[in-house]
Amino acid sequence: MARINEHFRKLQAGYLFPEIGRRVRQFTDANPDAKVIRLGIGDVTLPLAPAIVEALREASAEMGTEDGFHGYGPENGYEFLVEAIREHDFASRGVAIEADEIFVSDGSKQDSGNIQEIFGVDCRFAVTDPVYPVYVDTNVMAGRTGAADDDGRYEGVTYLPATAENGFMPGPPDARVDIAYLCSPNNPTGAVASRENLAAWVAWARANDAVLIFDAAYDAFIQDPSLPRSIYEIDGARECAIEMRSFSKRAGFTGVRCAYTVIPREVTGSTVSGERVPLRDLWSRRHATKFNSVPYIIQRGAAAVFSPEGQKQTREQVAYYMANAELLRSGLGAAGFTCHGGEHAPYVWVRTPEELTSWDCFDRLLEGAHVVCTPGSGFGASGEGYFRISAFNSRENVEEAISRVSRVFA
Ligand code: MLT
Repeated sequence: MARINEHFRKLQAGYLFPEIGRRVRQFTDANPDAKVIRLGIGDVTLPLAPAIVEALREASAEMGTEDGFHGYGPENGYEFLVEAIREHDFASRGVAIEADEIFVSDGSKQDSGNIQEIFGVDCRFAVTDPVYPVYVDTNVMAGRTGAADDDGRYEGVTYLPATAENGFMPGPPDARVDIAYLCSPNNPTGAVASRENLAAWVAWARANDAVLIFDAAYDAFIQDPSLPRSIYEIDGARECAIEMRSFSKRAGFTGVRCAYTVIPREVTGSTVSGERVPLRDLWSRRHATKFNSVPYIIQRGAAAVFSPEGQKQTREQVAYYMANAELLRSGLGAAGFTCHGGEHAPYVWVRTPEELTSWDCFDRLLEGAHVVCTPGSGFGASGEGYFRISAFNSRENVEEAISRVSRVFA
């Protein structure tokens, strides 16, 4: 008899975004003429930048030639991409990362979900709350938690409430934990960590022999050049932090798929007998066993993001989305909503009006404004009473959404 992994049964019914999709489909089936504006899932809408398209085209043509054909690639990524990442994402900000500390993958969702495999099942972990659901759900699947309570909080997880009072940037826990997940710019609140915030986390991790898993998927949206983009800009982070970056939001790769994870060789974990083992080696072993590299064509497309034209074009796209975020903040603010985030992130975190629950507000916006948002409670109990609105859409749709949402709650 094939017994199932019982831990899956602890998960909430459905993953957040498919559940939103289900509700939207139900609505559009019943209202086929409604022009629904989707500002729910953070999926990019602008077409790929021309420099990337050209690189993808060239690489495809190469693959059709005897000399240019590529089969399985190096599992950690082609040198041309790894070197471009080192140079543009790290060296340019004074951060030294070695090539063999970078692992190119097909997405940060996968990496942030898979990383927990290299830790013992008895490790205790902390998350900020609200949080990107993948961090928690994958640990639930692995058996690192007990059951969920009525608010959806799993037993055994340390939740750090991210509230308006702490600027949506909670500090390290008092409770003893071994692993902490951080995300900055934050999904879903749109808050961004300062150098001081990150320094406090790094100091805590080093003092407590803990590992930080730092998700920087939205780093390109940081507007203030003095804010840290990488956790390795903080002294001591090489000893305690793993970082994840993605091409999804910075360059429109949500449907193309390319990302990378960095694990400096100084980051170690302990065996039962107390021997220290570099986490990099475990991840490398995992990667080589379970992954056969991102396709050559895609990696060429990703490398084009770092070309002068690619940089210029993708920055223009980020600026376009950030102008949307500014419109959402100011437009909804003028309509009486309390808005947070959206200054260094493509997400605006909005207090629900009339003390509505997040899902009730979601339904009101869908039915009354035909606008899809993401209910804050879907990201965790502390997200209750908020909704997240994404800046990934056309200017026209964002303007239309603001006026429709404002009318619903006028
Ligand atoms: C989100 O909307 O939170 C993100 O698009 C989800 C993701 O990146 O997987």
